[in-house]
Amino acid sequence: MYYPEELIEEVRQKSDIVDVISSYVSLQKKGNNYMCCCPFHGEKTPSFSVNRTRQIYKCFGCGEGGNAVTFVMKYENCTFPEAVKILADRAGVELPQPEYSEEAKRRESRRQRLFEVNKEAAKFYYIMLRSERGNKAKEYLDKRQLSGETCKNFGLGYAPIRGEELLTYLRQKGFTDDLIRDVGLAKIDERRGTMTQFWNRVMFPIQDISHRVIGFGGRIMSTEDSGPKYLNSPETEIFDKSRNLYGMNYARTARTGNMILCEGYMDVISMHQAGFTQAVASLGTAFTPGQAGLIKKYTREVLLAYDSDGAGVKAALRAIRILRDAGMSGRIINMSPYKDPDEFIKNLGQAAFQERMNNAENAFLFEVRMLEREFDLNDPEGKTNFHSQIARKLCEFSEDVERENYLEAVAQKYHIGFDNLRKLVVNMAAKTGGYAAQTAERPKSGIQSKNRNTPEENAKRSQRLLLTWLTDYPQLYVKIKGYLSAEDFTVELYSRVAKRMFEDIEKNTLNPASIINMFEEEKDQSEAASLFTTNLPELESEQEKEKAFHDILVSVKKNSYEYYAARSGVDLSALSKVIEGKKALEELSKTHISLN
Ligand code: UTP
Ligand code: MN
Repeated sequence: MYYPEELIEEVRQKSDIVDVISSYVSLQKKGNNYMCCCPFHGEKTPSFSVNRTRQIYKCFGCGEGGNAVTFVMKYENCTFPEAVKILADRAGVELPQPEYSEEAKRRESRRQRLFEVNKEAAKFYYIMLRSERGNKAKEYLDKRQLSGETCKNFGLGYAPIRGEELLTYLRQKGFTDDLIRDVGLAKIDERRGTMTQFWNRVMFPIQDISHRVIGFGGRIMSTEDSGPKYLNSPETEIFDKSRNLYGMNYARTARTGNMILCEGYMDVISMHQAGFTQAVASLGTAFTPGQAGLIKKYTREVLLAYDSDGAGVKAALRAIRILRDAGMSGRIINMSPYKDPDEFIKNLGQAAFQERMNNAENAFLFEVRMLEREFDLNDPEGKTNFHSQIARKLCEFSEDVERENYLEAVAQKYHIGFDNLRKLVVNMAAKTGGYAAQTAERPKSGIQSKNRNTPEENAKRSQRLLLTWLTDYPQLYVKIKGYLSAEDFTVELYSRVAKRMFEDIEKNTLNPASIINMFEEEKDQSEAASLFTTNLPELESEQEKEKAFHDILVSVKKNSYEYYAARSGVDLSALSKVIEGKKALEELSKTHISLN
């Protein structure tokens, strides 16, 4: 849904940032700002600051910053239009109804119907579990130590022995057999008519992130019952198994800074019951890149709580790869001596699990440890092969610092001489064509290098700093506008922000919060927000500040000069920028700019 910019701005103006954020967390007034512990990362002393005049917030701990709309997006984990809608409802601003094409309307109404069938079916199973006929299922859930509260939370139910009962119920509600089939609850057989998918099973409704029922899993209650242990709905128009996760409707707002990935429905449920509401599981199929993408919307840190058996280890190794490819780091929770999280929690309890979470193993070290099992280390050949496999794996790190750190860790752990292993890695890289190619999404598997600022990074940082300075001291703009233009910001987004900022300063209407709304993509918004909230160095004296400001200005100018100089061979307009830039630089170096 697209809303016109004026309307978004109206909503934002009617949504005072302090009021909005106060409705989620409790703020304390400190000087000109309001402070609290950051809702986006764990901390004990408040470093999250909200500024009413500027209508923006900023966390000095994790760097998160933005305006009322981006706050709601982050906190509610929703999209930009959804956040605008939430704020509009709150502020009493009426938004236009979305305009759909006829085709889109038809498709949407069909999807709605499918969701309705599932919802009614879930209701039916739910009622059945709580009726006389659900006694056996109730006993079963009791035996598995699920509280009434937990069963209610997850909408657990029971599919009675006679499948027709569901059909009668749904037909009565006005659903056709075709629709019931299309949502995966029945098959239509020429000879035997409509037959339901689930009977005599404990039912687990599977919900999407908006709590809509998209499918079901059903479990037998005794090993004597026929069929597979768990039976799931087939994929349908509304049930995409590769892009949903069981428990995500709750996990997405758990706000623990991580997610726990389990194998089974029961694992998720017992974890949630024990307070680990960040647990999710895939849907009877292996973990997919689509699911990794879903998790990544909420967190980068995934703890794997897979079964401790061979199949579980294999699945964990696969999941690690997928997470890594998605640019996330995984750590593995050791479940032994129990089979899965459900059994672990039942036997050792919540605190012990928390302890295991704290000690979860780094994904790379886990991989190496699993690799070790494949070799006989008492045999020289086995040992050699193991070491060269390690070297091969180490070559996958494209970043030197990261690779060196792992090299060191592995050498120590497996008693391999550091230099020997290193030699092995270098040789391997030479043989196999170097270290993994560096890409933007290259995984950071835990250990990260902090000081790898490229000249480009530094230039970007100066540009950000300059814009933050100007937000703090807009009166400076008049003094420097002879030297500086929006084109000096060589990053496209920065340049757009600068242009708008300079216009606003001239008109005396500078408002960082509204500039953020120029952008609709979440990525762009948070990047724009970062321009106003870069951490300025803490400088005491006026003199120091003036020097810092001067340095930043010169550095931005210098970068712009170099940027256009590099292009002046091909681009004529760049040439004039170069001449102008050189002059400005010379003048600047002799000019004193006071902050007042
Ligand atoms: P598990 O066999 O590990 O079962 O299957 P579990 O999670 O420990 O379940 P309980 O404790 O015995 O009740 C893990 C997941 O694999 C899928 C289901 O999604 C299940 O939650 N699965 C398993 C199936 O889809 N079909 C099966 O027959 C078995
Ligand atoms: Mn289990």
